[in-house]
Amino acid sequence: MTQPTIESILHEDRMFPPPEEFSAQAELKSLEEYRRLYQEAAANPEKFWADLADKELQWFQKWDKVLDWQPPFAKWFVGGKINISYNCLDRHLTTWRKNKAAIIWQGEPGDSRTLTYAQLHREVCQMANVIKQLGVKKGDVVGIYMPMIPEAAVAMLACARIGAPHTVIFGGFSAEALKDRLKDAEAKLVITADGGWRKDAIVPLKEQVDKALGDNAVPSVDNVLVVKRTGNKIHMEPGRDHWWQDLQANAKADCPAEPMDSEDMLFILYTSGTTGKPKGVVHTTGGYNLYTHVTTKWAFDLKDTDVYWCTADIGWITGHSYIVYGPLSNGATTVMYEGAPRSSNPGCMWDVVEKYGVTIFYTAPTAIRAFIKMGEHLPKARDLSSLRLLGTVGEPINPEAWMWYYRVIGSSKCPIVDTWWQTETGGFMITPLPGAIPTKPGSATLPFPGIIADVVDLEGNPVGDNEGGYLVIKHPWPSMMRTVYGDPDRFRRTYWEHIPPQDGKYLYFAGDGARRDKDGYFWVMGRVDDVINVSGHRLGTMEIESALVSHPAVAEAAVVGKPDDLRGEAIVAFVTLEDSYRASEQLEKELMQHVVGEIGALARPAEIRFSEDLPKTRSGKIMRRLLRNLAAGQEIAGDTSTLQDRGVLDKLRGGA
Ligand code: PRX
Repeated sequence: MTQPTIESILHEDRMFPPPEEFSAQAELKSLEEYRRLYQEAAANPEKFWADLADKELQWFQKWDKVLDWQPPFAKWFVGGKINISYNCLDRHLTTWRKNKAAIIWQGEPGDSRTLTYAQLHREVCQMANVIKQLGVKKGDVVGIYMPMIPEAAVAMLACARIGAPHTVIFGGFSAEALKDRLKDAEAKLVITADGGWRKDAIVPLKEQVDKALGDNAVPSVDNVLVVKRTGNKIHMEPGRDHWWQDLQANAKADCPAEPMDSEDMLFILYTSGTTGKPKGVVHTTGGYNLYTHVTTKWAFDLKDTDVYWCTADIGWITGHSYIVYGPLSNGATTVMYEGAPRSSNPGCMWDVVEKYGVTIFYTAPTAIRAFIKMGEHLPKARDLSSLRLLGTVGEPINPEAWMWYYRVIGSSKCPIVDTWWQTETGGFMITPLPGAIPTKPGSATLPFPGIIADVVDLEGNPVGDNEGGYLVIKHPWPSMMRTVYGDPDRFRRTYWEHIPPQDGKYLYFAGDGARRDKDGYFWVMGRVDDVINVSGHRLGTMEIESALVSHPAVAEAAVVGKPDDLRGEAIVAFVTLEDSYRASEQLEKELMQHVVGEIGALARPAEIRFSEDLPKTRSGKIMRRLLRNLAAGQEIAGDTSTLQDRGVLDKLRGGA
C-alpha cells in the first residue's frame, strides 16, 4: 500500500495510521489488538502487571502480593526481591548481548566512547565498590551532579546496585539549588566531574559543588567523588574529594547486586510544584523497573537492532527512565550526547543520527521548534534514512511542529509517539503504541494498557467529549511516585485531595488540563496550576518569586509565563521595589542574575517589569491571571470584581 500523502491525510482529520510495514513488525499490530489488551488490563490491572513482571524481569524472590493500596499510598510486588542494576546489566551478560553496545556516547568536543554490556557492568561494579569504600551503605542517599558522560549512568547504576538511592541534580542548577537538594535528601556522598562541556564552554560543576558544600552547609556529605572530564583546574579538598579515575584503578570489577525489596527507594528526583521549595519525588525499585521496561519496549517498539537516542539530560526523569533504566533493562543500545545545537555547529544532532545510524529519536517540542528555526537544510544535508520512529515529550506539541518533525526528520514514514507523562508518573501514561494506534498531530492519543485515565471537573465528575477538564488517573500503576521525600502530607494534599476522593476512591491529579475527543484521544492543554514550562523544564512560579524576594531590592514579586514561540513559555516577573531602590536597566540585569544564582540559568526571567503595586484581591492574594493577560499583551479577561484597586491595572498597562 502506498502511504497517503500529507495533503490527503490532512483532509482526513489529520489522522495518521501506522505505516503497514511498521505494524507488520511491531509487537502490537492494530488498534483492535491494543483495545483488547487495554480491556484485559483494565479488567484486572494486578494480573496484567504481575504477568508482565514474571515474564519481563528477573527476581531474586517472587512477591507475595501484587498491590497493597492504602490510598494514596501504594506498594507494588510486596515481598519481592529485585535489583534494577542486575536487570539492566547482569542478566544480559549470559546472552549474546554481552558484547552488544549498551551505551554509545558522543562528547561535545568530538570524542566518543562505546561501552558494551560487559564493559558497562565492569565499570558499574568498580564504581559500586568505590562508593562502598567511601562509606556509603544500603539506604544512604548519593547526590549525582554530572555532565552527560557515561559515568553519569554508571553512577546511577552503581548506586542502584548497592541499594543507595540516588538523587540526580541537573548540571544546570546553581550551587544554591544543589545545596537545597543535597540537604533535603541528606546525601552522604556527591558524585560530580571537574566540569562538563556545554556549547563550546566548560560548566564548572565542581566549583558549584564546592560552593554548595562550603561552610559545612550540608553536614551529611562526607565525600565527593570527582570524575575527570575536562581537565580544567579545580580545587580538591583534602580528605573530602577523591578522583574517580584514581580509585577506579584499584577497584575490584566484581560487585554482587544487592537483593532489594521491591519497595526500597531507588531514587529521589526533585521537581517544582506550586508551593514552596521543590519536592523530592520518591520512586521505588520493582514497580519502576517493570513499568519503564514495558513502556520502553512497547511505545518505542524496541528491537535488538535499534540504536535508540533520547536527547534529554540525565538530570530529568526522561533521562532516568528513558536513557538509562528502560532501555538498558531491555538490553538496548542507548545513545548519550553531551552536546547541543549551537551556532558553531547547528547541525550536530543530525551528525549524531547519521554517524551512529540512530533508528529511534526522542526529543522535546522546544528542540523541534529550534530545529525548525535553524532550517531544513541542516537535516536535509545528512543521511537520516536510518530513522524509523520519532518521539516527543515535555509539553504539548503544536501541530505545525509535529508536521515538520514528521515530514522533514521522519521523511513522512516514521510514526511519532507523543508521550504524556511526568516526573511523578515515572513512565509514559498516554502515548501511541506506534504499530497500533493512529496518531493525530498534537494529541498524545490513548492511555497505556493498565492506565485508567480520565478528564473530570473539580468534583471528579467526567466531562463530556471535547469539554476541558482536569487530567486524572483512576487506578494505581507500578511506577507511580510513592511519596514526597520526608513529607507524606504534601504528597496527599498535592496529588490526591485536590479533587476530593469519592466513596473512598482516590483520583491522581496530574496538574494538567486536558480534553478528550470523540475517538477517546487525549489532548493535553498544559498546566492548570502555578507551574510554568520553559523549554520543557518545569518551574514553579513561587520558586522564582522566592528567589527574587531574597534580593534586598525586592519588596514583592509575582511571576507568570507568557507564550513564547521557541520556549513554549517565557518567564515574566512583576516586581515592586523597596523604597530606597529605583528601577533601572542595571537593576533588572542584577535581578535576572540573582535568579540564575539562586536556581540556575533555566529560571532566568525573560523580562522584569517594575511596578509600584501588584493587582491583588481584597484578601491580599496576587491575581496572577490578570498578570498573565498583561504579560501576553492581551486584554484583561474574566472577572475583575474582586480586585482591590483597579488603578493598579491601568498603571501596569501604562508601564508595560
Ligand atoms: O504539563 C505536562 C508536561 O510536562 C509536565 C511534566 O513535567 P516533568 O515532570 O518535568 O516531566 C517532563 C517529562 C516527562 C506535565 O504535567 N508534559 C509532559 N509531556 C507532555 C506534556 N504536555 C503535553 N504533552 C506531552 N507529551
